[in-house]
Amino acid sequence: MDRIEWSDEFSMGVGLFDQQHKQLLSLVNSLTDSSGTHDDKDNVAGTMAELLQFAYEHFAYEERVMLQYGYPDYELHKREHLDFIHKTKALSEAAQLRVSGVPEWLLIHVRQWFGQHIREEDMKCKDFLKDSGMT
Ligand SMILES: [Fe+2]
Ligand SMILES: [Fe+2]
Repeated sequence: MDRIEWSDEFSMGVGLFDQQHKQLLSLVNSLTDSSGTHDDKDNVAGTMAELLQFAYEHFAYEERVMLQYGYPDYELHKREHLDFIHKTKALSEAAQLRVSGVPEWLLIHVRQWFGQHIREEDMKCKDFLKDSGMT
């Protein structure tokens, strides 16, 4: 699978969102790179642990901003973040039962989530935050 390239459709243009989303994308791409190889399963576990930890920190930042600016769909958005953490943890643990490599279902899950969540869900609050004066 090809790497996902950063483009304007991912850009929110406020706060630390773009910087953090780019870092998340770089972890998603590390996982993509490993998928074509027989990467040691410890390496894959390391990338997944890093991705989960960074996602967790990013979600905390994003939710803090949403709360601070009174974003109306805060609860719904927070639920999506929590669902991602739970599902990704479960899939990551299942992947550890394998001898090596990145299972396709794990890669598809993480890549689809990145594309869908940022382009659709995070983007829903882009205008709201801009209108609320966030820079
Ligand atoms: Fe989000
Ligand atoms: Fe986000």
